[in-house]
Amino acid sequence: MTSPQTSAPPAGKTFGVTVAGLNKKYGQTAVLRDVNLEIKPGEIFVVMGPSGSGKSVLLRHIAALEQPTSGTVHIGDFDTSDPTILEKVHLALVFQSGALFNSLSVYDNLALYPREHRLTNEAGIRERVMHALSILSLDKAAQKFPSELSGGMKKRVAIARALVMEPQLFLYDEPTSELDPVMAATISEIIATLRQQTAVTSIVVTHDRDLALNIADRIAIIMEGQVRATGTAADFQKPADPAIANFLSPVFDLKNPRFKQLEHSHE
Ligand SMILES: Nc1ncnc2c1ncn2[C@@H]1O[C@H](COP(=O)(O)OP(=O)(O)OP(=O)(O)O)[C@@H](O)[C@H]1O
Ligand SMILES: [Mg+2]
Repeated sequence: MTSPQTSAPPAGKTFGVTVAGLNKKYGQTAVLRDVNLEIKPGEIFVVMGPSGSGKSVLLRHIAALEQPTSGTVHIGDFDTSDPTILEKVHLALVFQSGALFNSLSVYDNLALYPREHRLTNEAGIRERVMHALSILSLDKAAQKFPSELSGGMKKRVAIARALVMEPQLFLYDEPTSELDPVMAATISEIIATLRQQTAVTSIVVTHDRDLALNIADRIAIIMEGQVRATGTAADFQKPADPAIANFLSPVFDLKNPRFKQLEHSHE
């Protein structure tokens, strides 16, 4: 019998993702409604939308952590309903919350996956782990425990941990939330550089407009569990749909009618 713990999927291949007619209900509440997306291999695909619109739920379906009420999600040709999918596809999900193991040091959080999958020997693992930590300016945090880290540091550790996994599909849930602008720009660079170096398909859920504009090949906007629009950043320069225009218009844009209303209310 083969153990899923020791089977490393073939490296160097990336996958597209196809979401078809995806519906998700929790009890009577429909959270995703007929979601259809075709994400190409090697693409950086950004998902934006208001809080509570279903972005994290969608990402959890793509990561095979949840199963649809109806519809399908495929990673390449593999259906995520296949219980062995994670042996076939090497994917990394950076959770919105970080989701680190609190009982393990930062170093051991990063080393866990390569050790379990026997990707290389301890010396090789040390090299990878320290390299990932240094990219994220975390060299000095290797021996710390998650409880000793700030929110932004935990987020960076979660990204470093995903880097060490060398995934074939990279999923990020709010990678820049809780980070200062300099670190947010670093994350943006990391995502773009990784894709350049490894052609890995990356799906990025974010509220961060700068991040979206800097890295996205295409953007989908999800509202109330439905895909409201997809397109390139340029397609969203002047959206005809007022709901999208409203969602995308920067809070401090002086042309924003809501801002004008506020100005007048002080006169
Ligand atoms: N396991 C669950 N059981 C019941 N309802 C859930 C569950 N997970 C999510 N929901 C609901 O689904 C909706 C969408 O949640 P989701 O976390 O996907 O939002 P989001 O778009 O990621 O929001 P945010 O931008 O705040 O992270 C919310 O109303 C949430 O309460
Ligand atoms: Mg979310």
